[in-house]
Amino acid sequence: MTVQSYIRGVGSYLPPRVLTNEQLAETVDTSDAWIRERTGITQRYIASEGQNTSDLGANAAKDALFAAGMEASEIDLIIVATSTPDLTFPATATIIQEKLGITEGAAFDVQAVCSGFIYGLSVADAMIRAGSAKNVLLIGAETFSRILDWNDRTTCVLFGDGAGAMILSTTPSKEPGAGAGVMNTEIHSDGRFRDLLYVDGGPSSTQTVGKLRMVGNKVFRRAVTKLSDSMIKCSDKAGIPIPDIDWFVPHQANQRILEAVAKRLDLRRGQVVSTVAYHANTSAASIPLAMDVAIKDGRIKRGHTVMLEAFGGGFTWGSALLVY
Ligand code: UT7
Repeated sequence: MTVQSYIRGVGSYLPPRVLTNEQLAETVDTSDAWIRERTGITQRYIASEGQNTSDLGANAAKDALFAAGMEASEIDLIIVATSTPDLTFPATATIIQEKLGITEGAAFDVQAVCSGFIYGLSVADAMIRAGSAKNVLLIGAETFSRILDWNDRTTCVLFGDGAGAMILSTTPSKEPGAGAGVMNTEIHSDGRFRDLLYVDGGPSSTQTVGKLRMVGNKVFRRAVTKLSDSMIKCSDKAGIPIPDIDWFVPHQANQRILEAVAKRLDLRRGQVVSTVAYHANTSAASIPLAMDVAIKDGRIKRGHTVMLEAFGGGFTWGSALLVY
């Protein structure tokens, strides 16, 4: 008998403050028209002073536990995907563990920037299949507003804060691939491109936190080809052809990337869940935030096939195919 990871519940949290393009244009040399046209973004959410990544993550976790109808005490593994941890150490996952009142099991962070949720999902699924965990709380949580250079218009207009969470549980199935759950995950990296998207500080190198730096147009081109290739491979390995997939929930970096990938894969209009207009790029949080929106508004239903994908700093990229 093989074991699969079943998705018990999804949740999310956005901080209360909204920053619109118009408001941003009052302090940065940019315009609402440029941001909308080049990215599709109209606004982003910004964490309040004193509100840390762990606070956003804990709120998203509570929402996911509610959706799953579970108690926090049932969780035996917490994985947090983040590039904006509360502290250099301990892991934000342990801080969230404490905030949820959990005192057993394990908690750790994964760092794969915008691909962090896919990396975390891959680890969660592998640990469930191996019998090392039963109920995994996977969180993508970020406060990117804290690592932006607000004088750099090429990056500061793109990002926002938020958190999303997914609870995966072990479920026995008679045959591999049968039933609902995670069908396949694909993760990749190529460190030769790390200078195109990085943060220029760190404990070992500069003893500072640093600011985000990106050569956007070079990231864009590579993202479109790598994402398309990864999704084709992921669907092939799962034995579920792209035309049979109900929903695509991409990392929300830029509406034009979403459209370019959709065109390459010949996706149907309306199949791609897009929240970039309202959330902007929330890095590791963007996929579960978008998936939660589409579950709550009734688009993604139990039994639907869902493809997730992401591309980010490193470069890192990957995809995951699920039956929700
Ligand atoms: O989540 C991780 C993965 N990240 C991504 O996937 C991001 C990928 N990249 C992108 O989304 C796009 O490349 C950007 C949105 C970052 C930029 O769009 P672009 O169409 O590639 O523009 P560009 O960088 O080639 O810049 C075009 C022009 C430049 O002016 P010149 O040199 O043509 O005079 C920029 O200085 O736009 C200018 N520009 C701006 N103008 C007004 C750049 N940022 C801004 C701005 N407002 N905020």
